Amino acid sequence: KPEYSILLLGGDGIGPEVTAEAAAVLDQLSASPKARATFKFVPRAFGGCSIDEHGVSVTDETLEQGKKCDAILMGAVGGPKWDGKRRGFEGPEGATLRLREVTDVYANIRPTEYFPQGKSPLREELVRGTKYIVLRENCGGAFYGPKVEEPDYASDLWSYKRSEIERIARMAASLALSDAIPVKKVISCDKANVLASSRIWRRIVEETITKEFPEVELVHQLADSATTLMMTKPSMFNGVIVADNTFGDILSDLAAVIPGTLGVLPSGCLADLPAPAWTPELKPVKGFFEPVHGSAPDIAGQGIANPIGAILSAALMLRYSFGLFEEAKAIESAVNLTLESGLRTKDMGGSSSTKELGSAIRENLKKLL
Ligand code: NAD
Ligand code: IPM
Ligand code: MN
Repeated sequence: KPEYSILLLGGDGIGPEVTAEAAAVLDQLSASPKARATFKFVPRAFGGCSIDEHGVSVTDETLEQGKKCDAILMGAVGGPKWDGKRRGFEGPEGATLRLREVTDVYANIRPTEYFPQGKSPLREELVRGTKYIVLRENCGGAFYGPKVEEPDYASDLWSYKRSEIERIARMAASLALSDAIPVKKVISCDKANVLASSRIWRRIVEETITKEFPEVELVHQLADSATTLMMTKPSMFNGVIVADNTFGDILSDLAAVIPGTLGVLPSGCLADLPAPAWTPELKPVKGFFEPVHGSAPDIAGQGIANPIGAILSAALMLRYSFGLFEEAKAIESAVNLTLESGLRTKDMGGSSSTKELGSAIRENLKKLL
């Protein structure tokens, strides 16, 4: 059996609480005689806790581990303790930004769907059957452009080049054709009516997808009106929403309204197209997996954070980095079975603790794998 190495970055706030549950799921898989692979963790401080321990939000050694390990599992970083002092690349969040950059995980896959057992604020008849992926370009745009920060002036350069847009467009179309979602449709969101970087985005997305993936339906939607439509006609987005780094960041948090909480949304950033079906010789696709939510300082330390976003991020790792489709599916089914049994954390209207929900998910997983 291959043993995959996973850089484990709990981070700050609820990060370590939820990643502990995701790591326990992977440990249980490793121990199962039916598992086709095992997982070894390489734990490191990351974000605010790394500033406290090492004086920097991510050490060079941790960045090297990120390149060396087969995949990365992260909780979340940041919190009031470090706010105001250092932000952006210098703050806790800079650890995430730099690790994404050095591993070139350009494709941030953020799936969302309606959970009938959840607490969606949207009307059931509106949101039923909604299931889509927000695919966020993750290594370019305004986040990574040259910055100027002076007391009375600041700027972030928002630019894209052809190769960056082509690769994310190919990823969007490939996901639309995969069985991750039932509809072969890509909805590209931009501000081509105003921004030059959006006009090149729209032109190259159009060129790439119509030429290379004629079976995929492609529509363009301005990102501002997309937000209203995502709430009033959510199921029209069934497919893959592709957007640049800034719009993708915002649209993927908006997608949390579908299940009604950020706590259940997973994300995975890939450096290449998803791994094909697993074989013992498969070379894993480098991936950086983290829930969409942040460090939730308002509930940190209380043991009530929802671990589902982190656990489903581990499932995305199995599917997209390692091609372990059955194992990924089993984790997703175990989460659904647990919710169906009535257990929920507070954000979903229940009173279970992080640990109770995590261990119930592992019990259900035992029945499946
Ligand atoms: P947040 O996602 O941390 O919290 C928003 C709201 O959602 C809060 O009310 C929180 O309690 C709730 N929530 C989030 N995750 C939850 C979970 N698993 N279970 C139950 N409730 C949950 O966003 P924020 O408050 O804007 O940011 C807090 C800090 O996190 C900031 O420092 C920000 O920079 C950082 N952040 C980090 C990441 C990351 O590292 N990937 C992502 C987003 C925000
Ligand atoms: C996310 C977060 C990060 C981002 C921050 C913490 C750097 O908001 O993963 O969505 O903006 O990419
Ligand atoms: Mn975000």
